[in-house]
Amino acid sequence: MQNNVLILDFGSQYTQLIARRVRELNIFCEIKPYNHLPEDLSEYKAVILSGSPFSVRGDDAPHPDLSQIKGKKPLLAVCYGAQYLAHFNGGNVAPSSTREYGRAKLSFIDHSESFFEGISEGSQVWMSHSDTIKKLPEGAIKLASTHDVENAAYKLKDEDTYAIQFHPEVYHTTDGKKLLENFLVHIAGVAQTWTPDSFVETTVAELKAKIGDEKVILGLSGGVDSTVAAVLLHKAIGKHLHCIFVNNGLLRKNEFQSVLDQYEGMGLNVKGVDASARFLDSLEGESDPEKKRKAIGRVFVEVFDDESHLVEDAKWLAQGTIYPDVIESVSATGGPSATIKSHHNVGGLPDYMKLKVVEPLRMLFKDEVRRVGASLGIDKELLGRHPFPGPGLAIRILGDITREKVAILQEVDAIFINGLKEWGLYDKVWQAGAMLLPVNSVGVMGDERTYEKCVALRAVESTDGMTADWVNLPYEFLQKTSNDIINKVRGVNRVVYDISSKPPATIEWE
Ligand code: XMP
Repeated sequence: MQNNVLILDFGSQYTQLIARRVRELNIFCEIKPYNHLPEDLSEYKAVILSGSPFSVRGDDAPHPDLSQIKGKKPLLAVCYGAQYLAHFNGGNVAPSSTREYGRAKLSFIDHSESFFEGISEGSQVWMSHSDTIKKLPEGAIKLASTHDVENAAYKLKDEDTYAIQFHPEVYHTTDGKKLLENFLVHIAGVAQTWTPDSFVETTVAELKAKIGDEKVILGLSGGVDSTVAAVLLHKAIGKHLHCIFVNNGLLRKNEFQSVLDQYEGMGLNVKGVDASARFLDSLEGESDPEKKRKAIGRVFVEVFDDESHLVEDAKWLAQGTIYPDVIESVSATGGPSATIKSHHNVGGLPDYMKLKVVEPLRMLFKDEVRRVGASLGIDKELLGRHPFPGPGLAIRILGDITREKVAILQEVDAIFINGLKEWGLYDKVWQAGAMLLPVNSVGVMGDERTYEKCVALRAVESTDGMTADWVNLPYEFLQKTSNDIINKVRGVNRVVYDISSKPPATIEWE
């Protein structure tokens, strides 16, 4: 990888955002924790130091040895990185007397450097720090200031070493992307060759070389990640890829058949396994959310295991793991420790299966998975599908699950989701769905009194599901949807709309 950029993470909440901005410039980059500096740095053309919740003066503060990097590779230090770089070179970092959070404007820029090319005084930047650089290191050159921050940017003399106190990666730094481009492309000379097409080309070649003519098993979920992983693998190894798509009886209305048809239409070698009865039987009488999840996970492993054994001589298990699942992160609260999150969309497979694991998307962010999917020619509608939880409708039916309740919720959900599509609202919403509540309420229909179920509709906007807010759907749409549901779905006489944000509420009700 000739054009790789290393982002050294000091635990900032914005580190992944730096990586995404760099990737938007069509430049590949990797995040590594500051205390796991790769031994071989030869493949990296430039290095970026991230921000951090720590203070350089704190006892636990990250103080890695930068001597392998500084002066040897083009280096950009951001926020804490800039302070640490100053500290490391004999400058002085101390608590600042004024609060330095939020918007600021660059009041002075040294334009003799190409670093700020195309960026004018008055440009807005985003600050988020409580320490400040009081004195620059010996020989450093100040490049920019704001009203409150004297040393908002500087460089080290005779080196391609740059530092900025503000965050170029956040949206509110208006020229942040331009600044990253100036540094990476013009100063460090990194080529902008990381595109979805180039990713497909190199990944297909790598997969071919790695797998040869061995057989691979992949569990399809109907979601974007597993679909894109399957199409990539299919391009590389064709019929040696054996996909399994399990119906757990808790999918959306008609979803099993329609998604299966779509997969077959793409030429994938896919087996649809209808295990609805097995899943629903295992859930009988169970109303505890975590126990429901566990039961579904357990049955999934059993079904997947049975089906995998039917693929004779399979050697590989493919998974749709993506980059946020594998980044080693620096803990911001429990001190600098490195942890690796593992991804178990397929429920975790028994050890005795002894399959080698292949994860073709493990270096991609979600938006990149979508772009790669588009470059592979996958249907736009499939790529734009809302996230749907693995346990499906089981965690949207509060309390115990019966076949009748599943059927009711499938009808309600279909009216809601189809309505969003018809009204052009589907793509404006990050995730939407309906919940069947464990309460009956009184209603009147004609002259008759009813005592039937209540459903809640939820539609949220979000970027990653970690935080979310409810969507202000038009009243006319809600009115029409509510009418349709109550008129068409037997057993439901009341519809409510969930107006809770996350936090404190979660997206799913269970
Ligand atoms: P919450 O409810 O925690 O959901 O705000 C955040 C995102 O995660 C999805 N979700 C799940 N996905 N298995 C999954 O595969 C689960 O058990 C599960 N629980 C929640 C949820 O749909 C939302 O996108």
